[in-house]
Amino acid sequence: MSIKKIGILGAGRAGTALARAAASSGIDVNIAGSRPPRMMKYHLAQYAPKAVAVSAEDVANDVELVVLMVPQEELDEVDPDILSGSLLVDATNRWQDEPLPQWFEDSLSRGLSSSEAVAERFAQARLVKALNHISHWDLDADTVAKATSQRALGTASNNAQDAKVVASLIEQLGFFPVILSSLAEGKHLEPGGEIFNEVLGVDELTRRLTGKIGR
Ligand SMILES: NC(=O)c1ccc[n+]([C@@H]2O[C@H](COP(=O)([O-])OP(=O)(O)OC[C@H]3O[C@@H](n4cnc5c(N)ncnc54)[C@H](OP(=O)(O)O)[C@@H]3O)[C@@H](O)[C@H]2O)c1
Repeated sequence: MSIKKIGILGAGRAGTALARAAASSGIDVNIAGSRPPRMMKYHLAQYAPKAVAVSAEDVANDVELVVLMVPQEELDEVDPDILSGSLLVDATNRWQDEPLPQWFEDSLSRGLSSSEAVAERFAQARLVKALNHISHWDLDADTVAKATSQRALGTASNNAQDAKVVASLIEQLGFFPVILSSLAEGKHLEPGGEIFNEVLGVDELTRRLTGKIGR
């Protein structure tokens, strides 16, 4: 399986780093921020020159998946309808005491992982957790650095086929996927978890999650 085109919602540090990394891997990118495409011209010329600016409403059109890279505190402003029917990769994290929308807090207080909370909000999308536990610098590292680190990245979903699609994307970006068998297990990829922001190979990442995930 080879991913040819993705959408990225969020054109900040993470979104533009992913756009650059994807372009280097031969993947076409549509990218959207909160501003209209014409207002992203200079920003993208500098940070993601090969990505095509689209409006948020169009980010899911004609792509194989959409990566969500909007701060969690801003998710109230993302209309779930624009992602309806999409394979949606949740790459978001909560940072320290970042205030969250009430629906998000309510879901977390019921013990859900943050991606399960996002999945409840974007109920018409197919959620996969991935690409959240790596910094934007490492995501966009050059091929030599990636080959040297042999870094593993986790991907968690309730749908095995969707997880495989995202695993393909991870491979094309120059990393080594480790599939977790449920969105609930995505909790282990979150800040404060066992592997967050750690440069680990497949064996070590798997070892750290042994007994915690069902793979
Ligand atoms: N930075 C990292 O290293 C990294 C790595 C992995 C995951 N993440 C996660 O990715 C998310 C974004 O982080 P970041 O560092 O990229 O933040 P950031 O630099 O502040 O960028 C946020 C982006 O989100 C856009 N945005 C805000 N509201 C939006 C909306 N309603 N619709 C569409 N776009 C919207 C902003 O667009 P405008 O500028 O047009 O308002 C901006 O482009 C966070 O949850 C973070 O935890 C970050």
